[in-house]
Amino acid sequence: MKKIKTITCIGAGYVGGPTMAVIASKCPEIKVNVVDINEKRIAQWNDADVNNIPIYEPGLAEIVAETRDKNLFFSTEVDQAIDEAEMIFISVNTPTKTYGIGKGKAADLKYIELCARQIARVAKDDKIVVEKSTLPVRTAEALTSILHNTGNGVKYHILSNPEFLAEGTAIQDLLKPDRILIGGDSDTQEAREAMQALVDVYAHWLTDEQILTTNVWSSELSKLTANAFLAQRISSINAMSELCEKTEADVDEVAKAIGMDSRIGPKFLKASVGFGGSCFQKDILNLVYISQSLGLQEVADYWEQVIIMNDHQKRRFAQHIVKTLYNTVSGKKISLLGWAFKKDTNDTRESAAIYVSDYLLSEHAKIVVYDPKVSSEQVYADLEYLGTHDPAFIREQVKVVSSPTEACFQAHAVAIMTEWNEFNTYNWKEIYQHMMKPAFLFDGRNILNRYEMKEIGFEVYAIGKGP
Ligand code: NAD
Ligand code: UGA
Repeated sequence: MKKIKTITCIGAGYVGGPTMAVIASKCPEIKVNVVDINEKRIAQWNDADVNNIPIYEPGLAEIVAETRDKNLFFSTEVDQAIDEAEMIFISVNTPTKTYGIGKGKAADLKYIELCARQIARVAKDDKIVVEKSTLPVRTAEALTSILHNTGNGVKYHILSNPEFLAEGTAIQDLLKPDRILIGGDSDTQEAREAMQALVDVYAHWLTDEQILTTNVWSSELSKLTANAFLAQRISSINAMSELCEKTEADVDEVAKAIGMDSRIGPKFLKASVGFGGSCFQKDILNLVYISQSLGLQEVADYWEQVIIMNDHQKRRFAQHIVKTLYNTVSGKKISLLGWAFKKDTNDTRESAAIYVSDYLLSEHAKIVVYDPKVSSEQVYADLEYLGTHDPAFIREQVKVVSSPTEACFQAHAVAIMTEWNEFNTYNWKEIYQHMMKPAFLFDGRNILNRYEMKEIGFEVYAIGKGP
């Protein structure tokens, strides 16, 4: 049975970096190379001060400090790392296509295909290729075709091993996953051995019961299905939040009541200003596209509603701010607390804060942003990427500050966009004193006690709560 001695991961991002750091830490006899074409990112991973690695995740810096340059290596030498490895993880980005057929829905697989062609060009001995990125079902077929038709005659075994970690808890999720999913062929002894080689890697810290093996297509489709179900729960509770606001039911009470039914369960029922993150929207759009391509319009429409509801939730939050501030925010200072798409990460991709700001900018608001982990350049880049407003206008209207006190000083309104724990520890009386009156507070995450805030003097709006 093949024992893996060298692993290469192509893509040093939010998945590749943390996943490989944990594999290196749990498998000291395996050499793990993480490679990327992004030189800046690799330089950050190699920064002498481990606190400067490019991804903020609780516990990650410690694991990198323990393994880096022992059996974990970050580099831009992709060819060399492919050549060296017996097992290659592909963990590159698979964003929504922004051009051509499937624009706005289909997954853009150009980075995946480039990896496959590079592996095919470089490999001189047999390789196990592992799909770690989230991919449309049946991508392994395309990978197999590229590898076998353009390669150097070496053998490839393609496995699907989707990642289920969530940002902000990535290290805990990797150390104690609900399950690891490995999809592969079982037809031949060699194929079974390839699958077993990957099972053996995870078996360094996980039990047999935690490692689920399936056929490749089930594995690929399970990843899209899991994200669709998770996002659907958020859109479902967010839909109820709007109904709660009209009926004086309280969305947190409703969530608790239904979550105690063991068939529903309590997790992922937190109403919010809308889900963000790089994957939920992208993966559901991909599912919609696949369904449409297969002629399954009802299936496509069903899942598309999850996105439609999420867009509505973000928009109605922004609209509510404008309406409450006497139908104009022009020239008014609105303080946004939080820019990351969730707490405990510096990732801002698809964050609700971006869309709410974009809307408020159209109404000529003056926006001041404070986030404990996001840089000002990232905030500007996110707004410019949308292309709605001129970069000069964005820089004129949006200020990014490094303290919450400064953010809220003389603001007409404060909006909580991310559920960072520290927002609960602020002296809200003092913040209130320094705001314009009436002082409006929009809690997009329901993290503050709205009765206490009202006692201080705030005019409070909280998602899914009555007046
Ligand atoms: P990311 O953008 O953070 O990282 C991807 C990296 O791949 C980038 O650094 C990019 O430079 C690199 N890359 C692209 N093409 C390359 C090439 N040809 N050669 C070498 N490097 C290349 O993306 P991510 O968030 O890590 O996501 C990666 C995949 O994992 C996606 O398919 C995503 O859907 C999936 N996923 C992400 C998460 C998450 O929490 N972010 C969780 C589960 C699954
Ligand atoms: C999500 C999934 O949870 C992971 O299993 C998956 O691997 C990953 O996507 C992926 O494929 O990329 P992530 O997006 O990192 O992970 O974080 P989540 O905790 O799922 O949160 C996503 C968004 O939903 C955040 O904006 C969060 O604030 C929001 N959310 C989450 C809610 O509004 N309410 C909830 O109850 C839970």
